[in-house]
Amino acid sequence: MSAQLDTIPRYRHMAAADLDAVVAIEKTVYSHPWTRGNFSDSLAAGYHCWIAECAGEIAGYTVVMAAPGEAHLLNLSVAAPWQRRGIGREILNFAVRIARDYGAAKVLLEVRPSNEAALALYASSGFAEIARRRSYYPAGVEREDAIVLQLTLQ
Ligand SMILES: CC(C)(COP(=O)(O)OP(=O)(O)OC[C@H]1O[C@@H](n2cnc3c(N)ncnc32)[C@H](O)[C@@H]1OP(=O)(O)O)[C@@H](O)C(=O)NCCC(=O)NCCS
Repeated sequence: MSAQLDTIPRYRHMAAADLDAVVAIEKTVYSHPWTRGNFSDSLAAGYHCWIAECAGEIAGYTVVMAAPGEAHLLNLSVAAPWQRRGIGREILNFAVRIARDYGAAKVLLEVRPSNEAALALYASSGFAEIARRRSYYPAGVEREDAIVLQLTLQ
């Protein structure tokens, strides 16, 4: 299989059996990762929890809370070995399609101001800053603000 085909994800629903692998990835890509409980609560709540597989591996995943008015992108992650190959953008497009199919008029998310990779991805996908939440994230001794981004769906 060509390298390019390897980076076209196959999507499937996240299941409880995925959580060991998902939590392991989470710990490698975030300073303050989601816990297993955050994922199992998302599954129990019926949020849209999807795995993106490339070459039979979990390359990334997303969690979207969709409602008719607005959708919230709660998690979007690409495993370290799969980063910088277009997969994050692909999963983001997939998450936006979920929101649109659900009838959402906008997609909202929060991101750390220090997360340059994610900010660049969201900005180039049409997201715009609408608010800041002061001291929202844990960040060692201090706390870090959250930037609230919104994508308006046509
Ligand atoms: C943010 C993240 C999802 C991007 O995934 P990715 O598969 O590496 O990104 P892509 O290859 O699809 O790149 C899409 C765009 O993101 C930006 N980007 C990705 N990695 C970047 C980096 N290290 N530095 C700067 N910009 C970066 C670029 O704008 C890129 O577009 P370009 O390739 O045209 O320059 C990934 O880095 C990740 O999982 N990080 C850890 C988890 C996280 O922070 N999630 C977001 C929480 S809000």
